Amino acid sequence: MKEQQTYFIYTFGCQSNSADSEQLAAQLLQAGYSAASAPDEADLIILNTCCIRESAERKIYGKIGELKKLKIADPQRIIGVAGCLAQKDKEKLFAKAPHLDFVMGTFAVGHLLEHVNRVKENREHVLSVWEQADETQRLRPSNLSGQISAWIPIMYGCNNFCTYCIVPYVRGRERSRPVNEILQEIAALAEQGIKEVTLLGQNVNSYGKEGDVKASFADLLRKADTIKGIERIRYMTSHPRDMNQQVIDVVKNSRSICEHFHLPVQSGNDSILKAMNRGYRIQDYRALVNAIRQTMPESSLTTDLIVGFPGETDELFNQTLEFVREMRFDAAYTFLYSPRSGTPAATMPEQIPSAVKKSRLQQLMDIQNEISLQINKQSEGKVVEVLVEGPSKNDSSAFVGRTRTNKIVIWKYTGSEHIGELLPVRIDKAQTWVLKGTLVN
Ligand code: 5AD
Ligand code: SF4
Repeated sequence: MKEQQTYFIYTFGCQSNSADSEQLAAQLLQAGYSAASAPDEADLIILNTCCIRESAERKIYGKIGELKKLKIADPQRIIGVAGCLAQKDKEKLFAKAPHLDFVMGTFAVGHLLEHVNRVKENREHVLSVWEQADETQRLRPSNLSGQISAWIPIMYGCNNFCTYCIVPYVRGRERSRPVNEILQEIAALAEQGIKEVTLLGQNVNSYGKEGDVKASFADLLRKADTIKGIERIRYMTSHPRDMNQQVIDVVKNSRSICEHFHLPVQSGNDSILKAMNRGYRIQDYRALVNAIRQTMPESSLTTDLIVGFPGETDELFNQTLEFVREMRFDAAYTFLYSPRSGTPAATMPEQIPSAVKKSRLQQLMDIQNEISLQINKQSEGKVVEVLVEGPSKNDSSAFVGRTRTNKIVIWKYTGSEHIGELLPVRIDKAQTWVLKGTLVN
């Protein structure tokens, strides 16, 4: 046997999963494993999975199928599935893919080693999907070398039950972490050289509303802003129903909290919003955006939109297009409605045919892309401050960074810039998704 066991983790889905993958890795590193550079070199492969849309599931099942050949090549190799799809499909995963060794749900994240050890001892399928969160302490992510950004979960789960969404079923009810635990974690990360943290939750604006935390999201932000060494604080996701002026004011008066608001609106029509159980009307959303833009005219605004929700007629969809033109979002993440079994919307009448959904998505993206480009063009000729992230993935002679407003900036590497620095870049050419510029000396 090799001296040191190695692991490889695939992460699918949202930032909560990225944070969970860091927890999985931290446990393995603590137990003496090291990271493999490719799956075929790993003794242990984990897929940390997502089930928010059918397309995500299909992709993951495809990847699980592909891994069968690595199991055949080395039967001692352990392959496991964690995360939301594991929580949802449970033993069905073994039925579909007998080459898997373990399936562990979202509530078992802190117990990875127990599962791996049980597989090693018994060489049988280990299924561990719990219905309740356990109170295991999170480990400090320890595999941060060279990283300048980190994810920090501030709460788990979701209580909203939007009628399309499976998240509350696979991640349970809202649980907020204690303020001090979060602040200590951020301070420790700052000491390790982290410059940017993103506070994570399905609905960060309801932080502290349950349990005995006794602090609001605004309180938490205000305290986090005082931690030395952290240059930028981001958070996601905000719920438009729970976002308030208090939080807007804290952002405005802070040193490090970024002027970027991600406020998923989902639809531009009140009857669809009602059927989605979103808890706000279009006029409420508009008022919220007006308040943000009045307080911080330079802030950026992004959103999520779902097209083809049951009952969405052409007329209702056109209202979404109109609303998108009115709001002028910097960017929008647009999704085809995907029925999730067990959610109320999946059994609603008037499901929309796939071809109609696809054509609506295209119309929406065309309009939004044009708006994104127009907004980005306004930054041409201006100098922006970027946090340097490192070499561009597509072009090794270029470097990438982000503005406080979360725009991606690319410039030609000059040799003098370093990862983690805040530097001025002049924007020469704006595109829909990126700004191209030159480092200013
Ligand atoms: N179908 C399509 N999009 C969905 N989202 C959540 N559930 C679904 C679904 N069933 C989208 C929402 C949410 C984002 C993270 O994913 O827009 O804000
Ligand atoms: Fe899903 Fe709605 Fe919760 Fe977001 S707020 S995770 S969309 S139920």
